[in-house]
This record gives sequence, C-alpha cells and structure tokens, in this order.
Amino acid sequence: MKKVGVLISGRGSNLQALIDAQPRLGAYQIALVISNIAGAGGLARAEAAGIKALVIEHRPYGKDRESFERAVNAALRSAGIDIVALAGFMRVLTPWFVAAWRDRIINIHPSLLPAFPGRDTHARALAAGVKLHGCTVHIVRDAVDDGPIIGQAAIPVTPQDTPETLAERLLPVEHALYPLCLAAFAGGDAPPAAFQPALNYWFAANPR
Ligand code: GRF
Repeated sequence: MKKVGVLISGRGSNLQALIDAQPRLGAYQIALVISNIAGAGGLARAEAAGIKALVIEHRPYGKDRESFERAVNAALRSAGIDIVALAGFMRVLTPWFVAAWRDRIINIHPSLLPAFPGRDTHARALAAGVKLHGCTVHIVRDAVDDGPIIGQAAIPVTPQDTPETLAERLLPVEHALYPLCLAAFAGGDAPPAAFQPALNYWFAANPR
C-alpha cells in the first residue's frame, strides 16, 4: 500500500474525495496532509478523518522557495511518504523539489491539458470558445501544469455557461477522476482502462 502525502492550500474538496475513496479503492493510504496556509479548510477534513495534518507556511521563507520546500520535504520523508498528491496547492514547485520527488508527484488541474495551464481556466476556456472543458491528473514536471497525463475527464460547454457554472459542474468530475488516477498510479500502472469504465459509470449515473 503506497503512503500518500497531500499538499493543499484551501478548502480541500479534492482531498476529501481522495479520503472518501480510499477504503473502496484500497490502493493508497493518505498518511499526511500539509497546508501552506494556516486555517485552510482541508486541514479540518484531514483531522476529521484521523489523518495527521501540518501547517508549514511559506510566508516566513519569503522569496526562498527552496527553503520552504526543504521543510515540506523533511515532513514528507519523516512520515515515510511514497507519493505526493497536490490538491489545490497554490505554490509553484522548484526544480529541486520536483527532482527530489521525480515521478512521484501528481497534480489535478481544472482544464484539459495541455490547454489552459495556470489560473482562471474556466474563464479562459469560455473565451476560447471550446466545446469541451475538463480536468487532468498528471505527473508533475518543472513547467507549471505540465507532465505526463494519467487521466482526463471532459464536460460539454453550453452557450449559457459562465466560469462559475463550469467550475460547479467540473468539481464533482474532478472528485471522480482524482482518486481513480491516484489509485492507478499507486498500483504502478495508470492505463486508461484502469479507470475509464468507472468514469463512464459515473457519467451515466450523473446525467446533465
Ligand atoms: C480544484 O479545482 C483543483 O483542480 C485546482 O484547485 C481547486 C482546488 O479545490 N487545482 P479544492 O481545494 O480541492 O476544493
């Protein structure tokens, strides 16, 4: 069973999805949650699930990103973490941290990468006129929101959509996708076949 450390900055709804799916999927165990923001909503979710939760604030480190990351790395190592899962973690990681966890960090991003890396993905997708939007779980590389794709899930975009409605419709899809991708990744294989039937099932059960 792979031990997972989850890095968060905010409300932690993706963290909650990973926690909730853990017993059913049986492929990973969340052993540590770290937030760079004190009082982030996800911290209470971890504590409610009996998972160790730490606050390591980036602010005291100022522009020295790597020193902040060395503190995060030390906490992950001392907890015996195998895989780092970013779930709404709003810090860009340095090449040092990415190299230290090469092929062992994954992220969820609210767009169909490689389209729309970075922020404000829903507004940018609408402005571009795309007919499909979605989310991506990928292995983390040096560039922001870049790296080998583990899985994606798409939703249709309608003329009535706003950034808010897209975000609201996409979030439960993220919650369906991320645990399946993490489980496939933790199991050492991430073929689409591992999770596609489950996603198809999810969409059938949640028609628009
Ligand atoms: C999600 O949309 C995720 O894709 C993005 O940030 C948001 C985090 O939400 N990276 P939450 O904290 O998991 O609720």
